[in-house]
Amino acid sequence: MKSKIRYERLTFYLIFFLIFACILWIMNYTIFETKDEKQIFILAGQSNMAGRGGVVKRVWDGYVPPECHRNPAIHRLNRNSIWEVAEEPLHEDIDFNKTCGIGPTMVFANIVLEMDPQFGKIGLVPCAIGGTSIDKWSQGSRLYNDMIKRARIALQDGGTIQGILWYQGERDALTLKKAKSYKRKLEKLYGDVRNDLNSPLLPIFQVALASGEGPFMQEVREAQLGINLANVKTVDALGLLLEPDGLHLSTQAQVQLGYKLADAFLKAHYIFRTTQ
Ligand SMILES: *[C@@H]1O[C@H](CO)[C@@H](O)[C@H](O)[C@H]1NC(C)=O
Repeated sequence: MKSKIRYERLTFYLIFFLIFACILWIMNYTIFETKDEKQIFILAGQSNMAGRGGVVKRVWDGYVPPECHRNPAIHRLNRNSIWEVAEEPLHEDIDFNKTCGIGPTMVFANIVLEMDPQFGKIGLVPCAIGGTSIDKWSQGSRLYNDMIKRARIALQDGGTIQGILWYQGERDALTLKKAKSYKRKLEKLYGDVRNDLNSPLLPIFQVALASGEGPFMQEVREAQLGINLANVKTVDALGLLLEPDGLHLSTQAQVQLGYKLADAFLKAHYIFRTTQ
């Protein structure tokens, strides 16, 4: 009789323990899921996206403005497809043949988190390469394929691509022919990327040029400003301070651009969320 009671009590404790363990496991699972789910941004284009702020004659001055500080909630997918805490120069191992400096993205990410502390962990996917014309980014090209591949790798741990930051076109200001065909190529590129990432309304935040590698910057700017696609927002860099080379945004200019991009993103994101 006594041993039977002890046995029942033991069964009761065992069942209780199992239920408790299950609850813990489920809790941990959901916490883990939300913790590791990244808000992903693809960064592409040329040198001003890669970042040349503070670079003069191929030497970076090493100055990192406070707005670009490291943040444990901001990660980047490095060249070997490993996530790591992001820091400037963000494209150092991606645009590795050039000297990289400050770009717009660390500021962008820090401001987004400051303005929306519930936003979650940010995952940056740097893909920009200096001096590349839009033809180098056409569907099927090496740069295009790398970008799509890296975007898919970034999604493997879960998460959502929140947008593409695109700053390119300086190289296409070289000839009138290139500048005149820019709009058509840009629209095709945006369509192709959205198709290949199965995200037809993927938000794109593009930067209108502040400088050009040739005389046709105005024509490229007109193409950029004339884009009329859903969920493509344009931020204008014209007038921001350039480095002495007359081509690259200075560190302070990149900080300003980062603010503008964050502002454009937060507005679009908020409106998109409230109208869904
Ligand atoms: C770096 O330079 C090498 C040699 O010219 C070239 O093959 C490679 O594509 C370049 N890579 C980048 C990321 O610029």
